[in-house]
Amino acid sequence: MKAPGHIIFLGAPGVGKGTQAKIIAQRLLLPHVSTGDMLRASVTSGSEVGRRAHAVMESGALVGDDIILGIIAERLAHNDASGGVIFDGFPRTLVQAEGLDRLLDSAGKLGIKHVLHIVLADEEIISRLSGRRVCEKCGAIYHVNFHPSIREGLCDRCGGELRQRDDDRPEVLRRRLAVYKSETAPLVSYYLSKPGYAEIEGSGDTAAVSARIAAILGLEG
Ligand code: AP5
Ligand code: MG
Repeated sequence: MKAPGHIIFLGAPGVGKGTQAKIIAQRLLLPHVSTGDMLRASVTSGSEVGRRAHAVMESGALVGDDIILGIIAERLAHNDASGGVIFDGFPRTLVQAEGLDRLLDSAGKLGIKHVLHIVLADEEIISRLSGRRVCEKCGAIYHVNFHPSIREGLCDRCGGELRQRDDDRPEVLRRRLAVYKSETAPLVSYYLSKPGYAEIEGSGDTAAVSARIAAILGLEG
């Protein structure tokens, strides 16, 4: 990446945003900012935000823009965000995209350098999400067939227990996909006309998708 700036991972549930955002965050030594992970942490801690978000997330709908923009404004104020962050699952509505532009639109703040839109067919999304397992301790992402842990049910990295996410149940999954199409897909036309937008084919294994992303970011290999 030639000049610093924020990177946005855009795409439907299950396309691999989290998997790829973690890899890029490690390579570029930038913070991985996943609103989904932050909300799940708030639910676990029982905070006010968590109490407000819990039922909404379980239903597959989107948490309110005001809550999300509040979380992001707070996160961007941390020192470690000054060189850019990797956004995963944010923004997700036009109100959030415009809110982010306002947050970044002041002197001395970095802008958005890349918007990486990962695309994948619905059947593949469903097969990826129905087999996903997540470490309850460190958040590492696995798949029972495509990326199994060495010891069944246990995280390779920290030994934590692997769980299925509550919102990966089939009925919630269908709602999340529908919500993506109605609320988040319109963001593609918002970013299409701006510099840095790229569509990435999400099929193939994790390494193949990472290589496509690395090529767009100008990274070696
Ligand atoms: P969030 O946590 O953001 O979920 P999501 O967008 O629905 O996306 P996922 O995390 O399900 O999928 P992913 O693209 O990260 O895929 P992953 O890498 O895990 O949001 C959850 C909820 O929080 C929302 O529904 C909403 O309620 C709320 N929320 C969050 N942000 C919000 C916002 N900004 N505004 C309002 N509400 C918000 O991969 C999936 C599986 O596939 C894994 O098992 C993985 O191992 C496997 N896999 C990945 N890549 C490959 C590959 N190349 N080949 C084979 N398998 C692969
Ligand atoms: Mg994710």
